[in-house]
Amino acid sequence: MAQVELKNIDVTFKQKHQSIKAVSDVSLSIEKGDIFGIVGYSGAGKSTLVRVVNRLQEPSSGEVIINGENIEKVSGSELRSVRRKIGIIFQHFNLMNARTIANNVEYPLLGTGVSKKDRKAKSERLLKLVGLYDKKDYYPSQLSGGQKQRVAIARALASDPEILISDEATSALDPKTTQSILRLLQKLNKDLNLTILLITHEMDAVKSVCNKVAVMDSGKVVEKGSLLSVFSNPQNDLTRDFIETTNQIKPALRVLSHQKDFVNYDDRRLVELQYTGDTTSNPVIIELFEKFNVTANIIFGNVEFIQGVPLGHLIVTLNGSDDGIKKAKDYLHDQEIQVYNIDLAKVREQEALEEKEEA
Ligand SMILES: Nc1ncnc2c1ncn2[C@@H]1O[C@H](COP(=O)(O)OP(=O)(O)OP(=O)(O)O)[C@@H](O)[C@H]1O
Ligand SMILES: [Mg+2]
Repeated sequence: MAQVELKNIDVTFKQKHQSIKAVSDVSLSIEKGDIFGIVGYSGAGKSTLVRVVNRLQEPSSGEVIINGENIEKVSGSELRSVRRKIGIIFQHFNLMNARTIANNVEYPLLGTGVSKKDRKAKSERLLKLVGLYDKKDYYPSQLSGGQKQRVAIARALASDPEILISDEATSALDPKTTQSILRLLQKLNKDLNLTILLITHEMDAVKSVCNKVAVMDSGKVVEKGSLLSVFSNPQNDLTRDFIETTNQIKPALRVLSHQKDFVNYDDRRLVELQYTGDTTSNPVIIELFEKFNVTANIIFGNVEFIQGVPLGHLIVTLNGSDDGIKKAKDYLHDQEIQVYNIDLAKVREQEALEEKEEA
């Protein structure tokens, strides 16, 4: 049973003169223990969608099922208990400046019948967990952005949630601090078996901690799957754009596209090879020579690990007879290595287009 099941969710905002469909027919299934990334540009509908999960936003249609229970009809104390299971953190920490760090963390427990002593013990335990115990008597203004986000995380954990929603929680942080917050989320996921919904426009964040990802565009989920399947075999152009931001292939192609040795290179002979997992160790390049008398010259290489599985990209030139190259490509294909012809004229066109857009 999925922990969170969204079925055919629509959210339409009706305004005076128009209505905006912020979320359109979204179905997602989030399992206990997932770190589920939802990535998309500004306005894609990410925040609206996750607000539906804890009923801060009513869906116009569709079903939200949490731990097997349809939460559409719940209200009052039942709704409060559903909401307690779901913590949320935001880009702008939303801490109370007049309260100490410890008091901020205790705040969600006020009025829930937990004694003062137990509240104090809990906030201290949570502050230890996020590495800020020594700052418990400080005020938010005395902390850095990364530290404030740690306080917000501790506060979100005060009601022992099963699910943590992180809505652009690292967007205001520098890359190093972002990494440390992501590592903390990963630790909480592992140690507390906390399910995490990570909303972001940074595919790098998704790549470093998520096990699943959904890509949103104009209210729709255009692609979803395990991290490895999406990174190794993206189906949608937008997904490819996001993946490109996380590796060095595009800049490498741009450099090549201006080098005189490559400017007019035959695009059937300049190719990108992509392989995953076991294929990595196959001495295929030697085989191409032995079997087809084709040499492959590596111009650029990049291997990364996606959920522990190697994903490799090589840009190579193939040299040999036309027939040999055709056979070599078929052979690579049979070895489950994907082969893409590189059209450097297109790379230059794309670059010119982007420069124009930026100007
Ligand atoms: N309360 C509202 N009333 C009217 N329109 C809204 C409301 N909330 C969101 N929208 C619209 O719904 C669309 C999706 O917004 P949403 O905030 O969910 O996007 P997002 O993906 O979270 O964007 P960002 O990355 O900028 O946070 C946008 O067009 C937005 O203007
Ligand atoms: Mg948002």
